[in-house]
Amino acid sequence: MSGSTRTMRAAAIDAFGPAEALTVRDLPLPSAGTGEVLVRVRTAGVQPTDAAIRAGWTPPGATIGFPQILGNEFAGIVAEVGPGAVGFAVGDEVAGYRVLGCYAEYVNVPAEQVVHKPAGVSWLTAGALSASGQTAHTALERLGAVEGETLLVHGAAGGVGSMAVQLAVARGVRVVGTTAPVNHEYVRSLGAVPVEYGSGQLRRIRAAAPQGVDAALDTAGHGNLRTAVELVEDRNRIGTVVDIGLTRELGCLWINSNRSAARLRELLDLCDRGELAVTIRATHPLDEAYKAHLDVETGHGRGKNALVISTDDDAVTGVPPAGGRTP
Ligand SMILES: NC(=O)c1ccc[n+]([C@@H]2O[C@H](COP(=O)([O-])OP(=O)(O)OC[C@H]3O[C@@H](n4cnc5c(N)ncnc54)[C@H](OP(=O)(O)O)[C@@H]3O)[C@@H](O)[C@H]2O)c1
Repeated sequence: MSGSTRTMRAAAIDAFGPAEALTVRDLPLPSAGTGEVLVRVRTAGVQPTDAAIRAGWTPPGATIGFPQILGNEFAGIVAEVGPGAVGFAVGDEVAGYRVLGCYAEYVNVPAEQVVHKPAGVSWLTAGALSASGQTAHTALERLGAVEGETLLVHGAAGGVGSMAVQLAVARGVRVVGTTAPVNHEYVRSLGAVPVEYGSGQLRRIRAAAPQGVDAALDTAGHGNLRTAVELVEDRNRIGTVVDIGLTRELGCLWINSNRSAARLRELLDLCDRGELAVTIRATHPLDEAYKAHLDVETGHGRGKNALVISTDDDAVTGVPPAGGRTP
C-alpha cells in the first residue's frame, strides 16, 4: 500500500491569517513511523495557542510548513502501530498530544506521547484535556500550593483556569478565582470563591481572602500580575502562562506546560474517578474548525472548544485503502 495515495480530511492553513484561513481539505494520510502510532482521531481540543500559531506565532522548536494542520491534543483509536512502538495495539482507545497536526482524521504520534483512555472517560473529555490540564498541573507543581493555603487564579473560568481551580481544590487549597460576573456561579461550582476582575479587583480579592494569598496563577494576562504582586509576598510563588513580558519586569515565574504521558495519565485517572471534569463550551465538526478559533479569540468563556472529527457511526477500523479516502 502506498502512503502517498491515501488521503484524509484535515483542517489546515496555507498561510498565516485570520480564523477563516483555517479550511478543510484532503491531505496525505500519514503512516505510523518508527516508534509511532497512527490514531484515527475522534475529538481534538482547541486552544488559544492554536489560534496564535494560525496567526503567525511559531512555538519554540517547531517548524511550520504549509499546508499546516493545526491542533495539539486529541483522543481516538489506534489504527496502525509502527515498528518499535510498544504498549499499543490496533483498536486501542487513546488520548495524546503533539505540537501540531491534530485537527485531522488521522494523526501519527510518538507512542510515548499517547496513553490509554479509561473506558469511563468520554471522548470529548479525553480529547480536550491534555493542553489545559497539563498546563494547569505544571503550574501548580511550580507554585507548590498545598493544603490549607490560598491560591489566586486569574481567569478562573477559562480552559487552563478551570483545570487549575479543580486541581488545587482537590488538594485542599482554598482558591479565589477572578472571572466575569456571568461565570461566577460556574467558578463557584468548581470550588473557588469567584471575584469580578477589572477595576477594584485588588480590594475585592482581599475581601474574599481575608486570610491572605499564598500563591497566584495568571492565565489571563491583561496586567493581572500587577494585582498578584500586591497580594503574594514571594514572587517565586506568582506565575503566569500568558505574560512573559511582565515576568521580567516583576520577577515572577514564567510557566510553560511540561507535557508528559505520565501527567496526562494522572489527569485522565482523575477524570475517571470523577475528581476532575473538562467543561466543553462548544463542539464543532471538522469543517467548522474556524468557528472554534473565532470563539477562542474572544478571550472569554468557560472551559474548552472541541472538534468532533469522527464518531461511532464512522465504522472505520485500520486505515483506508490506497487511493481511497476516509468516509
Ligand atoms: N505557557 C503555556 O505553556 C501555555 C499553555 C496553555 C495556554 N497558555 C496560554 O494561557 C492563556 C489562557 O488559555 P486558556 O485556554 O485558559 O484561555 P481561555 O479559555 O480563553 O480563558 C481565558 C480566560 O481569561 C478570562 N479573562 C478575560 N479577560 C480577563 C481579564 N481582564 N482579567 C481576568 N481574566 C480575564 C476569561 O474569563 P471570562 O470568560 O470570565 O471573561 C477567560 O475565561 C492563553 O493566552 C494561552 O495561550 C499558555
